Formats: sequence, C-alpha cells, structure tokens
Amino acid sequence: MSMRVLVTGGAGYIGSVTAHMIARAGYQILVVDNLSKGHRQAVGDLDLEVLDIGDATALRESCLRFKPEACLHFAARSLVGESRLEPALYFRTNVEGTANLLGALAAAGCRRLVFSSTAAVYGEPAGIPILEDDPRKPINPYGSTKLEVERILEEMSRAGDLRYASLRYFNAAGADVDAGLGEDHDPETHLIPRVIEAALGREPRAFIFGTDYPTLDGTCIRDYVHVKDLARAHVLALEHIDEEGGAFNLGNGQGFSVRQVIEAVKKVSGREFEVVERPRREGDPGILTASSERIAGALGWKAEHPGLEDIVGSAWSWHSEHPRGYTG
Ligand code: UFG
Repeated sequence: MSMRVLVTGGAGYIGSVTAHMIARAGYQILVVDNLSKGHRQAVGDLDLEVLDIGDATALRESCLRFKPEACLHFAARSLVGESRLEPALYFRTNVEGTANLLGALAAAGCRRLVFSSTAAVYGEPAGIPILEDDPRKPINPYGSTKLEVERILEEMSRAGDLRYASLRYFNAAGADVDAGLGEDHDPETHLIPRVIEAALGREPRAFIFGTDYPTLDGTCIRDYVHVKDLARAHVLALEHIDEEGGAFNLGNGQGFSVRQVIEAVKKVSGREFEVVERPRREGDPGILTASSERIAGALGWKAEHPGLEDIVGSAWSWHSEHPRGYTG
C-alpha cells in the first residue's frame, strides 16, 4: 500500500504521531503545516511544506503537485478558551481553511478525507456515554466550527463528492515515546501535561478546577485516550474509507477524574507536589465519556492502551526526556 496522503497539521501533537504511524504503515506522506503551533522537529524526516491552509492558492498548487489520494486534516485552532475570545479567527481557520482544502483536493481529484473533530461538538451531553447520534449543541466557538465542517462533509458525501470519516476525539493524551513524539503546547491548558509540569518542578503547583461536580470525588471526569490509539484509528479509517464513513467517537470508554489523574502522575513520577483547589473553569461539563462502539464495529478499533497509568506513564517519559518540549 503506497497511497499518497496529504497530512495537514502534521507538525502538531496528534498530527505528528499519526503522520509517522501511517508512514511506517507504508503510505507516502506530505505534511503541510504553518508551524504556528506545530514543531518542525516533530515532522522529522517526513516531507514538509510550510504553508497556511488560509492560503488557498498555495494549498491548491501543493495538491496539484503532490496529487494526494487521501487527506488527513488536523490543521486547526483548538483552544476552547481562545475560541471564545476570538471566534472570527476560529471560523476563518477552521471553517474557511477547510473550505480551501476541500477546493484544493477537488482540483487534484482527491475525494477521501479523514477529519479531526472533537467531543466539543456535543456541548453539554444529553446522556453518558455519548453516542454519535446524540444532539450536537456546541457551547463554544471551537465546537461550532468543527460541527460546521462536519455538516459540509456530510452534504458533500451525500452529493457523492467525497468519502469521509470524522473522528470525534475525546481527551487525547500520552506520547509516542519510541517515536520521540509528545505533547508540547504553548500555552499548555491540558490537565495531564500541566500536572506533569508541577511534578517536574517547572510549575510550583497543580490546580484542580472545581471540586463540587456531581461525581464520586467531586472533580470532572474525562475520557482520556492514548494518542497512539487515536493515531491507529486514522490508519483504520484510511484503510476502510471506501466502505465505511461518517462520524465516529474516539474515546477509551472509561472516565477518570482530575484527582485520579493527579494520583497517577504522582505514582508514575514518584514525585510529590502541591495541589491547589480552585473554582470551576467556565464551560466545563462534569462528565464527558464516549461510546466508541460504532468505530469498534465498523473499523475494528479498540483502545490498546486504555489504562490511566499507561497513558500518564508515556506522557511522563516524554516530558522527563523533553522538559522544555521540542525546543528545549
Ligand atoms: N483541569 C484541571 N486543572 C488544570 C487543567 C485542567 O483541573 O490545570 C481540568 C479541567 O477543568 C477539566 C479536565 O481537567 O475538567 C480536563 O481538562 P483539559 O483542558 O485537559 O481537557 P478538556 O476536557 O477541557 O478539553 C478536551 C479537549 C478539547 C475539547 C474538549 C471537549 O482538549 O479540545 O475536550 O469538551 F474541546
């Protein structure tokens, strides 16, 4: 199998782990990334074109040259808080950027797309675990932009113009330690790397945002899914895209609380650090866990690393080897 695959956002966290995994599976890769958030080091020896999906002309030229047979589309802005402050930026990058990409792919005759969607399309969940057909009512512009793209893809697929899979990630976490790839965001907002920063002594303390949720220990529960499991789902989505498509939840089916994550970091690192309880962060639902039965049935996907210590342990290994991230 040596299908040519365009990977937008392949210098980012999930994009880079996936790009390397599909390259190892024998696909021919071209990464396009504007390197605004991603890291050149994470692309390694894969082919890279530094361009912005906002630049429709450059994107089209790149597609006409490379002639992709499929595209994995990771490039996006993805911070919930920032999306509330700058909604127009999110619509421009995530919706217009994707429209540019769809035009460029069509010009090159490419009709297969795997799209990075998110649990944020659901907003406050109607029930737990969340099913793909549950109501989609995003509560922030980030989720709205991803839902908007899903609607475009659905209509294009109905018109017979596209085969697509939309993967709704729950909480991506962990690292591909063997490949030397991990999570390096600036600013870092995600729980696991923030707690690890406290364990490494790079932050004076870790924070718990909210201890009065209706959960067993009062803290939020999330469905942490190992980034290598997420990446493998893309390989399967690509393999089956001509027969199976639509939207798929991607979570490990188990929820872990903020306190459980903090305990896991203490255990795998063997470090003690101060933990401070703070009020709730705005817009955080108490529990978000996925039913991933649809992707299990359709693509044969199952989390291979569902354990919290496995996930947190891989993140700890990567961060302790790269205490300042890729650039350190
Ligand atoms: N949290 C803390 N302390 C921290 C950081 C986070 O207690 O220092 C809590 C949050 O309040 C939340 C949980 O840890 O309850 C997880 O927070 P993250 O920021 O790691 O992840 P989110 O669940 O908020 O966000 C994830 C994805 C988003 C996506 C969202 C869907 O990262 O891209 O799920 O709701 F939009």
